[in-house]
Amino acid sequence: MRYAAQPIVGLLALALTASAASAGVAQLSGDAGVGTENAIVVTSPDGRLSFRVWSDQGAPRYEILQDDDRVVSPSALGLRFAEAVNLDTRLQVTSVERGARDETWEQPWGERQFVRDRHNELVVSFRRTDAENDGFDLRVRAFDGGVGFRYEVLGDAGEARALVDEVTGFALPEESEAWWIPAAGWNRYEYLYETTPLGEVDRAHTPFTARLPDGGPHVAIHEAALVDYSGMYLDQRRGGAFEAELAPGSDGVKVHVTGEFVTPWRTIQIADDAVGLINSDLILNLNEPNVLGDVSWVEPGKYVGIWWGMHIRTMSWGSGPIHGATNENVREYIDFAAENGFDGVLVEGWNYGWDGDWFSNGAIFSFTESYPDFDLEALSDYALERGVRIIGHHETSGHLTNYENQMEDAFDLYQEHGVTQVKTGYVADGQDLIRLDENGEERREWHYGQYTVNHHIRVLEAAAERQISINAHEPVKDTGLRRTYPNWISREGARGQEFNAWGVPPNPPEHVPLLAYTRMLSGPMDFTPGIFDLTFHGFDAPSRVETTLAKQLALYVVLYSPIQMAADLPENYEARPDAFQFIRDVPTDWAHSEALAGEVGDFVVFARAARDSREWFVGGVTDEDAREVEVNLDFLESGETYLAQIYRDGADADWETRPYDIEIESRQVNAQDRLSVHMAPGGGFAVRLVPVSEGE
Ligand code: NOJ
Ligand code: CA
Repeated sequence: MRYAAQPIVGLLALALTASAASAGVAQLSGDAGVGTENAIVVTSPDGRLSFRVWSDQGAPRYEILQDDDRVVSPSALGLRFAEAVNLDTRLQVTSVERGARDETWEQPWGERQFVRDRHNELVVSFRRTDAENDGFDLRVRAFDGGVGFRYEVLGDAGEARALVDEVTGFALPEESEAWWIPAAGWNRYEYLYETTPLGEVDRAHTPFTARLPDGGPHVAIHEAALVDYSGMYLDQRRGGAFEAELAPGSDGVKVHVTGEFVTPWRTIQIADDAVGLINSDLILNLNEPNVLGDVSWVEPGKYVGIWWGMHIRTMSWGSGPIHGATNENVREYIDFAAENGFDGVLVEGWNYGWDGDWFSNGAIFSFTESYPDFDLEALSDYALERGVRIIGHHETSGHLTNYENQMEDAFDLYQEHGVTQVKTGYVADGQDLIRLDENGEERREWHYGQYTVNHHIRVLEAAAERQISINAHEPVKDTGLRRTYPNWISREGARGQEFNAWGVPPNPPEHVPLLAYTRMLSGPMDFTPGIFDLTFHGFDAPSRVETTLAKQLALYVVLYSPIQMAADLPENYEARPDAFQFIRDVPTDWAHSEALAGEVGDFVVFARAARDSREWFVGGVTDEDAREVEVNLDFLESGETYLAQIYRDGADADWETRPYDIEIESRQVNAQDRLSVHMAPGGGFAVRLVPVSEGE
């Protein structure tokens, strides 16, 4: 799409800090921009990206160029309030400040141990022409591969305002190809991904991924550091022009603010290749450092659990003849975990409240009272003796107040019994989370509205006080807050493995190659990989796992999470010990990770270096098409020989007809080698690379 050249007013340029009186005087010399001469510009350290901002007759505007080509066309900036001065018109630039940073920081756990934060910064002060104490500073950070900006809004101490509209726009070419899930619908984020021309998108969640036409760059729009604000989704207005939309609270107000405030960062990643979107730390870099101090108690690891049985209906959460969380069952899982090197056993369905229609029974869940056939104390003692921990579970069914009223006691109880991780759950439809207001009235909230955003932080803080980490299901989306709260160890927030148990349709073969370039850009996902009995209800059942066995192993490398479940029943692992060996061997914490190759929705290949050994792991997945990939092993230490343990699809493997056809072989390789691998339809591969000098 094309925009007409726009007249510029209120302009100011370069490293100039000026008072309102001098606004409009300085010119950006020699800039032959695309209709936005005199814009204030900040470029990425490599010089390829420029973020340009100006005031168009009082309305703030920005655009983003890569190598002089427009990626984001001129788009609006600003905020609107009920009964307070709006901040989207009558704004002039009153000062400009610049900065730069190049620092490396360390993650307690993650895809990589060290993260480089290198960016140029620009702060542009916009003030109302009629009220110089009203306005905002737009803080922009330009990285190689993307830009983030946020509003830092002026306000009088104690002054309450109701934000009713954020007008931030993101104008992209309509003919771009887009990969997205719908927003503001009945579900949270658990949808099948759409692949459409960008012009056909209506309302979409972020991360929202697109590829510009004619071989243009890949772009992903998202947000960072979502705190005390509503989650943003994108609403397409005129063709290609998206506007930020915010989930309203139950009173219709998008965000309640008091005094001065900052918004989350709006992020736009730009990469030549699809994998360039993945190999970016932009979201983490825009989050605040760890506020929890010593977090050595946050431990990555692998777990099994009383879980899949409920989803394939051989066990129940509620009491009765097939109750899953019985002392007997849990002991068996503890034994299996101990024998196979797992750190934890998740137990769902241990507490009162599951009987009847638990989807609608959030108010009656108890988080401290066990069913009579589950003895938390005895089981946690037994687990600890065997070097395993019980992993706790709090399903709220979306009743936020019932949970908040009990969570301190519930975390105390778990802490007393050595439980250091709790999986939470918010099963409820869109705008159906319940909270009781000051008058005891029921109010209904979105999973991504301001109230819920803050609820999650309250839970994290209460858990952190007891050295407990949280893995939220039906969560608000990730915006990199694991940097600030490292006990936010994982979350769901997309269609996970459970959909293969009962989803009609289940996750199609392209689902994981789509997740890698969309949902996974936001952070770790508790997908719960590793189903070995792929056809539990038969080959022709409406729900089955639409992958090969080798692809289930690949998920441990492809879908990053510091905690990974081996989701199937122990007997299904015991039946296939050779393939299971990979799950026993794969770590969940990495010194380094890189997406090596792929295309959105087609395939992706990763290499990751273990954090606590010299081993490397490689994994790849494909969609419904078979593919041959060649992996250059040049990331290995030169001079070292590695034993490559390769788990790949057999020659005739096919998710539909021969999903169990797997070939496992070992051979020696080094950094000069290339590994050629065949991926079957719906298939994948996983490789463990062990330095031979380690003596293995
Ligand atoms: C949905 C979660 O995603 C799933 O893992 C859990 O078993 C059920 N809710 C019950 O809490
Ligand atoms: Ca779920």
